[in-house]
Amino acid sequence: MFRRKFLATSLATAVALSLTSFHGNALAASPKTAAGDQDWARHSVIYQIYPRSFADGDGDGMGDLSGVVSRLDYLDRLGVDALWLSPFYKSPQADAGYDVADYRVVDPMFGSNADFERLLEEAHARGMKVIVDLVPNHTSDEHAWFQAALQSPPGSPERARYIFRDGRGENGELPPNNWPSVFGKAAWDRVPGEKQWYLHLFDSKQPDLNWDNPQVRAEFEQVLRYWLDRGVDGFRVDVAHGLVKETGLPDLPVEEGRENAGALVGPMWDQDGVHEIYRAWRRVLDDYPGKRIMVAEAWVTPRERLTHYVRPDEMHQAFNFDYLMTTWDAGAFKEVIDSSMALTATVGAPTTWVTSNHDTVRAPSRYGLKELGKHALPGNGIGPATAQPDEALGLRRARALAMLTLALPGSTYIYQGEELGLPEHTTMDGRYRQDPMFLRTKGEEVGRDGCRVPLPWKAEVPAFGFGPSDKTWLPQPASYARYAVDRQEGADDSTLNLYRKILELRQELALGSGRLQWADAGQDTLAFDNGDLRVLINMGEQTTTLPAGSQVLLSSEPLAAPDRLPANAAVWLKRT
Ligand code: NOJ
Repeated sequence: MFRRKFLATSLATAVALSLTSFHGNALAASPKTAAGDQDWARHSVIYQIYPRSFADGDGDGMGDLSGVVSRLDYLDRLGVDALWLSPFYKSPQADAGYDVADYRVVDPMFGSNADFERLLEEAHARGMKVIVDLVPNHTSDEHAWFQAALQSPPGSPERARYIFRDGRGENGELPPNNWPSVFGKAAWDRVPGEKQWYLHLFDSKQPDLNWDNPQVRAEFEQVLRYWLDRGVDGFRVDVAHGLVKETGLPDLPVEEGRENAGALVGPMWDQDGVHEIYRAWRRVLDDYPGKRIMVAEAWVTPRERLTHYVRPDEMHQAFNFDYLMTTWDAGAFKEVIDSSMALTATVGAPTTWVTSNHDTVRAPSRYGLKELGKHALPGNGIGPATAQPDEALGLRRARALAMLTLALPGSTYIYQGEELGLPEHTTMDGRYRQDPMFLRTKGEEVGRDGCRVPLPWKAEVPAFGFGPSDKTWLPQPASYARYAVDRQEGADDSTLNLYRKILELRQELALGSGRLQWADAGQDTLAFDNGDLRVLINMGEQTTTLPAGSQVLLSSEPLAAPDRLPANAAVWLKRT
C-alpha cells in the first residue's frame, strides 16, 4: 500500500540513502496510519510514553503532558504510528500512577484535562493515534470508593466494591489466605482495629477491586466512555489477567510461593471469568466510530492462554512478553516468533513484538549481561551490587534486535528511549529508588527505577535537557550524555538515525502487514523474507557470510566487508 520503489540497490546507494535520509528532505516524512485505516492495530508501531520521564514542561523535575506536546514533532519525525501513555490520572503516585485516585482527572503534576485534550488534538493532527492506560484491577487507597469502604462497616455495600475478608486466627490476626503481593510481603493489609483485611495484589496503597460487583463493572464502562468521548483511540489494560479471582480465594499451594506469584500462576491470575469483562468492553468500543482498540497486559502461562484475550470479540492485541523474555539465541528467537504467529493466527489476531517497557530491564542492558537470569522477568532490575552489563555489546545487540523486531509482521512497541539505545541506570543508589518493589522488599529486589530514568534530550545542559531546570525525579547517569537526542541527531550512524531509517523503510515496504518466510541461514543466524526484504541477524559469536550479490539496504553496524555480517549484527537486504 505504501510500497515505493527501492531507492537503494547496492551497498553504495544504501549508504547514500542513509545520508540523504539523515540530512533530511531527500525522502518524504513517512506516511502515517491513514485516519480511516480499520486495520491499524494489526501493523502499527506504537511508542510508549512514560509521562513521568519523557519531558518536563514546567521544570519541577517530573515529566508532564505539556512536555509531551513539546516533543510531538520529534515523535512524528521518528515515524511512529501511535502513542501509548502510561497513567497520568490523579494519583498519590505510590506506584508511579498505577494507583489511580480519580480515573477521569489528570493529576496536576502532569497538567490538566485541557492539556490532555490538546495533546490528543496535536497528536491526531500529526496522524498519530493515542492510547491511554486503564488500571482496572485496583484503585488507589485514596480513591473515594476505598475511603468510603474504610469508613463503612464490614458487610456494607461500600466494602463490597473491594475484597475485604475476616482474618484467620482467633482474633483475625492472620491474613485471610497466603497470597503474596507481586511487590513483596503479604497481599493483605489489616484494617486498623478490625478483624477485616483487604486484598492488594500489588502495593498496600493499591486495593484490589471486586469484579463480581456490578457497580464496579458499570463504573469502568463509564470510564471507558469518558475517554472514548474525548477521542482516544484505545486502551492499554493493566493487569488484564488479574481482575477475577478464583471463587473462595483458596491458598496458593505452598510450594509455589512468591516465585509463582512473580510468574503469575495461581488462583489470583488468568481466571476464565475475566473474558466476559473484555467482551462487554469490546461492545462499548465498537459503539464508537473509527477503530478503537484494547491491548492486554497479561502475563500468563502457558503461552496458549494469551490467545484467549485476543479472540475476535475481546481485545485487539496482547503484549508479547515471551518475545521480550527471550535469551540471545537464534533458536530461541525462531521458536518464539513461530509460536507467537501460529498462536495469534488461531484466533485471527495480530502478533505484537515487545522488547522493553517501564517494568523490565532495558534491552541494551539486558542483552549486555552474560546471563539473563531473573533479569528477563519484570521488576528484576540491575543494581550496583548486581553483575554489570557490557554496555557496548548490549548496544550492538539492541540495534540488531531492532532490525529483527521491526521487520516482523504485526504490531510493534517502542519504549521511550529505546530509539536512543538507552541503557538501564544500573548503578542507581538505593536512596533514590522509589519503586514499591524495592521499598517493600527493603532492596532485596532492585525493582524498576533503572528503566524509568528521565530521558536525555541535550548532552550539555543540566538534566540533559529533560526540562527547563536541573531537576529530575530520578538521577540520570553521566553516560546519558552520549545518548542524548541532540548528540544523536548529528551522527548518521547513531541509534536514533538507525531507528528513523528502519521505520521509514518499514512503512515504505509495508512490513507490518507483510508475511514472514524463513530462509536458510548458518547456525546462530536467522534469515527471513518479508515481501521485498530479506533480513539476517547474526546471534552467534563468529562473523557470517551474506548471500552472494547481496544488496544491503541497512545494517545495524558497518560491515567489515560487503559480504560479511559481524556477530551481534543484523542487515536488511533487497531481495533479488
Ligand atoms: C503493570 C504495570 O505495568 C506496572 O508498572 C504496575 O506496577 C502494575 N501493573 C500494577 O498496576
